[in-house]
Amino acid sequence: MDAILQGLRAAGEETRLRLLVLCAHSELTVSELLQILGQSQPRVSRHLKLLCEAGLLDRFQEGSWVYYRLANRGSNALLARYLVDLIPDGDDVIARDLDRLDAVRQARSDAAMAYFRKNASEWNEIRSLHVPEKDVESLLLDVLARYQADHQVKLREFLDIGTGTGRMLELFGPEVSYAVGIDNSREMLAYARTMIEDKGFKNCQVRLGDMYTLPVPSASQDLVMVHQVMHYADRPKVVLEEARRVLRPDGLLIVVDFAPHDLSNLKEEHAHQQMGFDLQQMSDWCHEIQFKIIETHSLPGNPLTVNVWVASAVEA
Ligand SMILES: C[S@@+](CC[C@H](N)C(=O)[O-])C[C@H]1O[C@@H](n2cnc3c(N)ncnc32)[C@H](O)[C@@H]1O
Repeated sequence: MDAILQGLRAAGEETRLRLLVLCAHSELTVSELLQILGQSQPRVSRHLKLLCEAGLLDRFQEGSWVYYRLANRGSNALLARYLVDLIPDGDDVIARDLDRLDAVRQARSDAAMAYFRKNASEWNEIRSLHVPEKDVESLLLDVLARYQADHQVKLREFLDIGTGTGRMLELFGPEVSYAVGIDNSREMLAYARTMIEDKGFKNCQVRLGDMYTLPVPSASQDLVMVHQVMHYADRPKVVLEEARRVLRPDGLLIVVDFAPHDLSNLKEEHAHQQMGFDLQQMSDWCHEIQFKIIETHSLPGNPLTVNVWVASAVEA
């Protein structure tokens, strides 16, 4: 009851209600909120502090930027969503705020698209070397469906390591309750964040982080994906150890990466650290760190073959 009262008191002011609505639509920095609201920084920062203390907003850091979003966990997350949903669609003040938010999001999206266009030809070049992504993706969705049916479970919390443009969030987001993508590139995250917001995936988020030290609590995830990321790792086994740490017992790990190849230009020109992984090598690492391999697949392509490892975390 105390928490609800604190939440209602915090929300009971016009600017703070506007902040809740804005942060329900998008993850926003203070400077973006200032642009939209046209108020002074100390004032807006004080409102944000109160809303965070009341558990209505979450604050998180990405490099030197601090973002705010509507809380989606914790005792007042439901209250926050409920208050936002109560506001009538036609409210003039909110409609004006949302118009300004559109302008902020358009600027973000333009920057993300510029980065994407700059790199797209390089990504397309690599894509042309292996089987179509839709083949890999339908296999992954099939793996998930079979695992859930065979074990009579619903995998709820999904972590995508090295999320890039967020394609795996887009694919698996609708299948789970909550999905987080981690990447160490702010540009990639900006693109993924724009995609998530454009598609209206309210259960998906992205975070800046390193795959060797994931900003994720231990034993908190049901499903971890490492899709086309391992070849960037100079310590692939450490990435698996981190995945094991954050998975719950019985949680599912899916790793997708190239089979061993001899395309040295991927190393020289595309910063790959590893020239693919043998099915057995990855399986051995998995066994060493308390994973049980459930199934493996090889999808032959020309010249790159894509390997898939599916493993479940066993009790230590
Ligand atoms: C080829 S992309 C794959 C993206 C995505 N998983 C997919 O398949 O669409 C590899 C991603 O790994 C990210 N990455 C590389 N090293 C990383 C690290 N140390 N920690 C987190 N992400 C990393 C890159 O920024 C890039 O977005």
